[in-house]
Amino acid sequence: SSRKHRLDRQRLPILRGRLDLSTVRVHDGFCDRETDPVAAGRGIPRSVGAVETVKKVRELSRIDLRCRVETVRTDMLELLKKFPDDQRSGFHAVQYICSRIKLPESMMEKLKRKALPETLESALCEVHDAVGVRVICYFADDVFRVEKWLKSQENYELVKEKDYISYPKPNGYRGIHLILRGMTGKTAGTYVEIQLRTIAMDFWASLEHQLKYKKEIGHAAMMSGELKQCADDIASVDLSMQTIRDIIEAEERKALSRGSAHGSRK
Ligand code: GTP
Ligand code: MG
Repeated sequence: SSRKHRLDRQRLPILRGRLDLSTVRVHDGFCDRETDPVAAGRGIPRSVGAVETVKKVRELSRIDLRCRVETVRTDMLELLKKFPDDQRSGFHAVQYICSRIKLPESMMEKLKRKALPETLESALCEVHDAVGVRVICYFADDVFRVEKWLKSQENYELVKEKDYISYPKPNGYRGIHLILRGMTGKTAGTYVEIQLRTIAMDFWASLEHQLKYKKEIGHAAMMSGELKQCADDIASVDLSMQTIRDIIEAEERKALSRGSAHGSRK
């Protein structure tokens, strides 16, 4: 089963007050470069005629589409703010969140690449990452907790799930991707892609993304081998950090139960 390969440790309550973690920060947009060929400098494909391109990009820029995607983005960001942190621990599972709306130009590029009709309908129904939200946690456990919580939301249904933590990509990429679809009100029928990562996984993905476009550099095989090694090292560090937290929590629980045992004898 998919859970089998997950970090197989006891789920423990969150460490209390040991770490001074900042509040959830909501950024305006995550760097579109990663998901966005236009922002990445690859531009609109030359094969599309200029006039046609302008026409189609305009269609994808239409205000009603803009409203629909903005509505889902806002709703999802509001929802994520409500993730219930462990009250006693006093720190936040979610470290920061960023989001982006796919630019009309890159939506066009994707529709073309996937041989989909370049229409509003397919941009909204066939492509599921018009709205992208990235949720970054310190610990892998928190990633799984946020994932589970998101999947239990009544206002969103799970359309697709990719667990690249239990099953990393061959290049070493790790993270959890959820495609959710709004079920009620103004968000009904609109998709949102959620990427969940630890800070360490995010660090790797950001660098790997930048490095993989440096095609002119030689030793490609050696470089991807090194990157893969880095990904595995990072996963090992994530696991160590998680284990340290688990041990501290276990110690605190022991201390607490000893404390209450003393208390009850008095
Ligand atoms: P698209 O439909 O083109 O988005 O691809 P897909 O359906 O295979 O989606 P997948 O869930 O695998 O990946 C979607 C997004 O995850 C990408 O746009 C990236 O933001 C991120 N991602 C996936 N694989 C990698 C990777 O190997 N390296 C990095 N840096 N990011 C990745
Ligand atoms: Mg994508």
